[in-house]
Amino acid sequence: MNTEHPEHAEPRTATDATAVTAGTDADREAAVDKSLSRLSLPAKVALLAGADMWSLPADESIGLGRLVMSDGPAGVRGEHWSADDPSVAIPSPTALAATWDTELVREAGRLLAQEARRKGAHVVLAPTVNLHRTPRGGRHFECYSEDPLITGDLGAALVAGVQDGGIATTPKHFVANDSETDRYTVDVHLDERTLRELYLAPFEAIVRKATPWGLMAAYNQVNGTGMSEHTALNQEVLREEWGFDGVLVSDWTGARDTVRCALGGLDVAMPGPATVYGEHLVAAVRDGRVPERTVDDLARRVLRLAARVGLLAGAPAAVPAELLPPAIDGEALAHRIAARSFVLLRNEGGLLPLAEQPGRVAVIGAAAARPRIGGGGSAEVLPARTVTPLDGLRAAGVDVSFATGSDALSNPAPVAVPMTAALLDAAGAELAGTVVPDGFVRWIGELPGRVAFADLAQVRLAGTLVPQGSGTHRFTVRGAGRFRLEVDGRVLFDDVLVPEGDDPAAAFLAPPQRLFSVELTAGRAVDLVLDHTLPQAAGVAGFGLVSFTLGHAAPALTEDELIEEAVAAARAARVAVVVVGTTEEVETEGVDRADLALPGRQDDLVHRVAAANPNTVVVVNAGSPVLMPWRDQVAAVLLTWFPGQEAGAALADVLLGRTEPGGRLPTTWPAGAADAPVLRVEPQDGVLPYEEGLFIGYRAWQRSATAPAYWFGHGLGYTDWEYEGMEVRHLDGADDDDPYRAVAEATVWVRNTGGRTGRETVQVYLAHDGVDRSRPDRHLAGFASVQAAPGERVAARIRIPRRAFETWDTPAGRWLVRAGVYAVEAGRSVADRRLSVALDLPPRS
Ligand code: BGC
Repeated sequence: MNTEHPEHAEPRTATDATAVTAGTDADREAAVDKSLSRLSLPAKVALLAGADMWSLPADESIGLGRLVMSDGPAGVRGEHWSADDPSVAIPSPTALAATWDTELVREAGRLLAQEARRKGAHVVLAPTVNLHRTPRGGRHFECYSEDPLITGDLGAALVAGVQDGGIATTPKHFVANDSETDRYTVDVHLDERTLRELYLAPFEAIVRKATPWGLMAAYNQVNGTGMSEHTALNQEVLREEWGFDGVLVSDWTGARDTVRCALGGLDVAMPGPATVYGEHLVAAVRDGRVPERTVDDLARRVLRLAARVGLLAGAPAAVPAELLPPAIDGEALAHRIAARSFVLLRNEGGLLPLAEQPGRVAVIGAAAARPRIGGGGSAEVLPARTVTPLDGLRAAGVDVSFATGSDALSNPAPVAVPMTAALLDAAGAELAGTVVPDGFVRWIGELPGRVAFADLAQVRLAGTLVPQGSGTHRFTVRGAGRFRLEVDGRVLFDDVLVPEGDDPAAAFLAPPQRLFSVELTAGRAVDLVLDHTLPQAAGVAGFGLVSFTLGHAAPALTEDELIEEAVAAARAARVAVVVVGTTEEVETEGVDRADLALPGRQDDLVHRVAAANPNTVVVVNAGSPVLMPWRDQVAAVLLTWFPGQEAGAALADVLLGRTEPGGRLPTTWPAGAADAPVLRVEPQDGVLPYEEGLFIGYRAWQRSATAPAYWFGHGLGYTDWEYEGMEVRHLDGADDDDPYRAVAEATVWVRNTGGRTGRETVQVYLAHDGVDRSRPDRHLAGFASVQAAPGERVAARIRIPRRAFETWDTPAGRWLVRAGVYAVEAGRSVADRRLSVALDLPPRS
């Protein structure tokens, strides 16, 4: 049942992702079988569906504990999504991927396990290993890359790290959930070769290398069948072919048909308690539509998961307490990953690093004071603290001035006063009350005062605002349902807001909003009252959700005035650091991106600041590609992604040269809006065809007439490297069944020719003779990082797995090793290849 790998004499290409485990599988299986045999049909079925938003029920009769799941991947939220239960917020997955460092990602996984334990969770709903098919994908920030090899290697490392800590993962969303438009229903059509070579590839690598204890099925359909019911992919490929023995859990509300899900191999329907399993599944077994042995299979896998995480009496946990990894300092690790992930895209004249005492630095941009540390949606975690870029530079002793420059947020922030929130029933009687720190309310799955969702009809938010300035104040109401807003005794709004589309989570992912202007006088307190009547759907299908915002913005300068102020600040300083980025409306789960431009007037701002100060550094705070029309006019461009809670501390280190920016792009960044090879995310008549086949990301850019702004793999660091030589040898005895076993090894000698110690990510690409145009011209075959002091020469050893030489043979239904002459190329990006050696791969004996 287990995907055990034989011991290899030498490590694999990247991480050897096998987690340390104790207690044998046989011990656990014996306990699982014993427990299963003692359960009645309804008791077995009860294990297969959520008891609530995040957990599976306990069963005392067999000593089974309550099993709690919690979202990742940028931290572990726990069951409560609130500021008084904070989580360590690490950089988002694109940042993690930019480190190209499986060991560091494994360490991040161990931190997630530690956080999960602290929060009483047993399963982390991560990593997200869908691909960057197009930069328009709204959840791009939450996945790793446009390349399946690096995605699989990093995904396996994260899973191994979390499971080192005895906590389960659910790599997600299986499969072809690569954009968000109509995500609940979209039917992705793609050919088998593309499915195998691109979209299934990371899942296969993770399952075979890291043996995840769970996996999450996607919402979408693939070639006409919903992924929660996809027998061919879930049973035949995932379980039978790859040997997956973990739990397949639905995406939230993704299980829609009792019989098809059960027969299709979906073990768990989330959230509960109202699901298509429960009494519906009991009835389906009783009337013969689902065999009881199918339920046994599903329940066995749930019990196996419980055993692995130590929740089943009589079964040894996979990782006993004495084998848990040493405690990790979460803040320190978040800080380290951030600096290692920052990508120096451009550095004209070596402006960076700045001197330790760089003189006056004008810090410009709303995101400098209010950075986006993570992307929106289920991945969002609330840290105990956030170090902003401004905080970070000030703490480093830099003499800074600040100007907002441009505030791209079209949504004012939640009104910054404590508010009382009264929970009322349909008759207006108060059921419970609480205080929220500002005008933002979000309760998911659980209500204050343990009020039942079924009883809650209305929420009344009330508070007092003392205006800071006289003039036009703006208020916004954001959410779904009926709202009545009263400011200073005047009713500004009394109507219903309805979200677009049929996404049950739209009320918090992409809520509608209304904006109002009121003249107020500085210092004269005004009462604010927002009554919210919940939409019908709020408590339906177990998706208990209350989410709305009362926003407020004090009178501000006009956009032109803000830019003028920033230009003046830039002129008066030696260096200008402009922080630009996307907003929560632009990069979030639930919606795709309309375009790739920076929102608001940020491009204007950069142009103007760059014209005023030649020493302009632009810091890009975005989780995925944005257009940078000014990139050749500024001295330096530093991409910091969504950097997690230690954002500003890491930024100060990198700007001042205390740390090198270690990142390399895991995805190609286009120069113009229309240049990206794949742009379409909108289904037609419910179908989204992946017409481009294998040609996504750099595989497509290599054949495009236009060059991107920055290629896959690009990133400068603070020193220079000479690629001095490469040797490639074919490894004998690699003819076993493990497609990740290395069949060749490249040794690449690089010399640090710059003036400081640095780290280089050596990338190896495989190019074939070009005769077969159905294959991309070249693809990433392996990578490794090395460190060297000035003048030092070091060797990077990169092992190339057999899979890198294989293509999927659709008629035969199997992988085929493509023997022949390859060019093994080593370089700094897919476009900056410095060395090439021919390798004649013999046919498999
Ligand atoms: C997301 C999943 C997430 C789940 C639970 C869904 O809407 O697609 O990635 O794990 O919600 O929050």
